[in-house]
Amino acid sequence: MKYTIGELIYFSPTGTTKRIVESIAEGFGSTSHRHLDATFSDISKNETFSDNEICMIGSPVYAGRLPSTFLSRISHINGNGRYAVLVVVYGNRDFEDALVELFDFAIAHNFKPIAAGAFIGEHSYSTSSFPLSQGRPDSIDSTKAIYFGSRIVAKVSSKNSDMVLMGTTIPGNRPYKPIPAILNVAPATDLELCTNCQTCVSVCPVHAISASNPAVSDDNECIRCSACIKKCPETARSMTDERIVEISKRLFNGCKDRKEPVTIV
Ligand SMILES: Cc1cc2nc3c(=O)[nH]c(=O)nc-3n(C[C@H](O)[C@H](O)[C@H](O)COP(=O)(O)O)c2cc1C
Repeated sequence: MKYTIGELIYFSPTGTTKRIVESIAEGFGSTSHRHLDATFSDISKNETFSDNEICMIGSPVYAGRLPSTFLSRISHINGNGRYAVLVVVYGNRDFEDALVELFDFAIAHNFKPIAAGAFIGEHSYSTSSFPLSQGRPDSIDSTKAIYFGSRIVAKVSSKNSDMVLMGTTIPGNRPYKPIPAILNVAPATDLELCTNCQTCVSVCPVHAISASNPAVSDDNECIRCSACIKKCPETARSMTDERIVEISKRLFNGCKDRKEPVTIV
């Protein structure tokens, strides 16, 4: 059977996860896949997948785990025994238990994982004062993602019956690391710079920003993904809360060494 990539399923508030899964699909030679983008809404439980199509599932790493928003948005999907490629993207600190959590999700949802990888994207908390993995994925990352895609093609073309990955090959621990206490804060808006263009409102994955007054965000809804900060054309939004600034500073000082993607095929 000739396999193609059928769907890219992903959550990607600041776009790095989307770029990585697209590069992997490029390496696979895939041009006709569907995008099931869970960044803004749930993936329907009525999605159907055909036998010769491989599903790629991509997620950013939040605190060494998968974002709970993504997990709830894809909670209805059923792989019906289809092959899956699993990808996490992290900000050059660590991906900890995120890939193993994605593997367990895939098994529980009736997918058969055949390849997995952890790639690096610019950290959501990167700022001009504290740049963190800035500009990643860069051309080296894209080349590695494309190469990963080409290795998956070789694997599915090899007629090897041991296609499905063993859980023990995936880095990470069970039980997963606990999710840390949530800081209920949202980015602030500089009213001198804001032009009320509504970009922040449209890019917020959880609709936490008021359309009638974008300077008002719901601290409890905000998932601190930084989409509104990175996509504001006037650089009017920023994370001013001291605790988040402190995290950026700590990451800047502690995660300077460039990490490289890890792939399992
Ligand atoms: C709430 C939150 C927690 C994060 N936790 C981690 C982490 O534990 N390790 C890490 O290296 N990067 C972490 N990051 C950075 C993201 O994983 C990284 O920037 C990723 O590329 C974002 O994906 P996206 O561009 O698809 O949104 C975190 C980002 C956010 C917003």
